[in-house]
Amino acid sequence: MSVLPILRMGTVKSVTGFQEHLHSLGLTIPCDRALVSGEDSPLRMPLVRSEIRIGNRIVVQPMEGWDGTADGNPTENTIRRWRRFGSSGAKLIWGGEAVAVSRDGRASPNQLLAAPHTQEGLAKLRITLTEEHRLKTGSDDGLLVGLQLTHSGRYSCPNAYGRHEARILYRHPILDRRQALPADYPVLTDAEIDVIIESFHLAALMAWKLGFDFVDVKHCHGYLGHEFLSAHTREGRYGGSFENRTRFLREIVQGIRSVAPGLHIAVRLSAFDSVPFHPDPALSSNGKPERGIPETAENVIPYRWGFGINPLNPTETDLSEPVRFLSLLEELGIRLVNITAGSPYYNPHIQRPTLYPPSDGYLPPEDPLAGVARQMETVRHLKQKFPNLIFVGSGYTYLQDFLPHVAQAAVREGWVDLVGLGRMILSYPELLWDASAGNLIQRKRICRTFSDCTTGPRNGLPSGCYPLDDYYKNSKEAEQLAIAKKR
Ligand SMILES: Cc1cc2nc3c(=O)[nH]c(=O)nc-3n(C[C@H](O)[C@H](O)[C@H](O)COP(=O)(O)O)c2cc1C
Ligand code: SF4
Repeated sequence: MSVLPILRMGTVKSVTGFQEHLHSLGLTIPCDRALVSGEDSPLRMPLVRSEIRIGNRIVVQPMEGWDGTADGNPTENTIRRWRRFGSSGAKLIWGGEAVAVSRDGRASPNQLLAAPHTQEGLAKLRITLTEEHRLKTGSDDGLLVGLQLTHSGRYSCPNAYGRHEARILYRHPILDRRQALPADYPVLTDAEIDVIIESFHLAALMAWKLGFDFVDVKHCHGYLGHEFLSAHTREGRYGGSFENRTRFLREIVQGIRSVAPGLHIAVRLSAFDSVPFHPDPALSSNGKPERGIPETAENVIPYRWGFGINPLNPTETDLSEPVRFLSLLEELGIRLVNITAGSPYYNPHIQRPTLYPPSDGYLPPEDPLAGVARQMETVRHLKQKFPNLIFVGSGYTYLQDFLPHVAQAAVREGWVDLVGLGRMILSYPELLWDASAGNLIQRKRICRTFSDCTTGPRNGLPSGCYPLDDYYKNSKEAEQLAIAKKR
């Protein structure tokens, strides 16, 4: 097997060693040698921009659990996850998790749904989180809690695991083949899109009534909002020109402003993408994942199905349209922006740098630190261009023991306004709180990117940190996951 010689982060013993390692890889990632604790910590500085006040620089990224009830309500598992989000000490909760605005737009039969019958359940999530946050930090002053609203589009799977019911905006030469969509598979009509926009308005109104501070109109990871941005080949009002491809966002924002005027609107954006990757077929053996390679073919160049990528070389980033998109956000009065990249379905190493791939993944085609650096550098570039927007950065978990040093330096040097944590929150929610309080860091709880939290859902199981979170030890789900991993 052609495993690249990637140094395991757990074997790097000191900050100096980590800095030398970055240097040997030719990567620029800011990293402080010593952590500052207490009020002087850059991670504990409040951020105030007009009417938005965020009590510190720590963010919980949205993370679904694939553990709602069949009718889209939270379960005990879901409530526990949100409680742990609260215990992180983060003052910005970016959406909790993706909540579908309509039943047909659920990414799994267990995704949460925004609907009249789920109001009580969604309210409970926010209340539980806030209570836990108060217990941890002593106050909910400066706490901002949002709800991430989504339609899963191409990745809709509302009724049964394995029964995909894609809602697509255009025919995609690679993804359609992967999803086995027949030649006559329908694209969403403009009238159907209008109905989806209306469901975003209703979901936002509900979030506002339930006391959420903002909603995230999700535009990332290959789901519907993101697919609009690359709908170059679509005809009609929602495709082709930049204006048409952003009509979905503009109409959602306009409607939310009229039904829920006090609600902040935020956008999580895949600022760049890449062509889909797949395991190198020349190397695959024994059904084990192999190194990922880009799936390109001459007939897909120029590549007309991407956003934030160079059509002539679609593994290369081109930020000219994302910059236009951020200008549009400013014009629309949107201040909160969360930058992510790619999609967990077709290029997971871009989105979620990882050493150990999930069951449907591939071995990293690059040192995962290069993936971290790419996301960080993109945010730095965009933040320099848009100093008035509030930027949350993503993809930090792979930094593992050095995450606090990098997070502190990134905020201190102005690379990013707030540091968002995904997988690390599942294994060790309080990592940045501990680091910025001068508490001992619990190394055993540091996420090592084993990917079980992704492999679980890929096999119809709830997500969670199976290896490191005691809650899952000896559980029925852990047994099922072990069986699935052997298959
Ligand atoms: C189990 C799991 C569930 C996720 N669910 C969501 C989601 O609901 N919405 C979203 O925007 N991103 C979701 N993500 C992506 C994360 O928010 C984050 O961008 C990604 O994990 C990279 O950050 P990290 O390196 O800190 O993990 C999910 C990631 C994981 C591992
Ligand atoms: S299962 Fe746990 S250790 Fe593995 S990637 Fe997810 S959070 Fe990290």
